[in-house]
Amino acid sequence: MEDRELIRAAIRARENAYCPYSGYGVGAALLAASGRVYGGCNIENAAFGPTNCAERTAFFKALSEGERQFRALAIVGGPTAGALQESISPCGVCRQVMAEFCPPDFRVLLAWGEGEGQYRALTLGQLLPLGFGPGNLNRERSERDADV
Ligand code: THU
Repeated sequence: MEDRELIRAAIRARENAYCPYSGYGVGAALLAASGRVYGGCNIENAAFGPTNCAERTAFFKALSEGERQFRALAIVGGPTAGALQESISPCGVCRQVMAEFCPPDFRVLLAWGEGEGQYRALTLGQLLPLGFGPGNLNRERSERDADV
């Protein structure tokens, strides 16, 4: 799938953002290895804490459908009043969720429009260097590392 199509899906997903408190709408689109695309939006809450980011909404939708391998994630966001203006970067909690399921070369597209070149492509490794992940709790791997 073209990067542009995934970005378009993120822009569409943002239309469903529930963000009456911040007025800041975020959309995400997650491409699974199966070829399916899962959209996600931010879902806020009057108690604030239960708010879920768009990125995690997309991941949890996909994971709950049985997906475990992912190719790329597109993200767009900004004030709901007015057009998209700049790229946004995922919060730390969402990066950690990505690290649970995605390798360091997982592609994250930070977009501000669906036009040609209106995005930056980064890897999860760039967004979360030296992260704590499943490998840290894998006994075999820890033993190997201890031998070094
Ligand atoms: N938000 C996301 O959905 N993803 C991000 O990467 C950053 C922040 C949401 C949470 C909240 O609903 C609003 O944006 C303002 O923080």
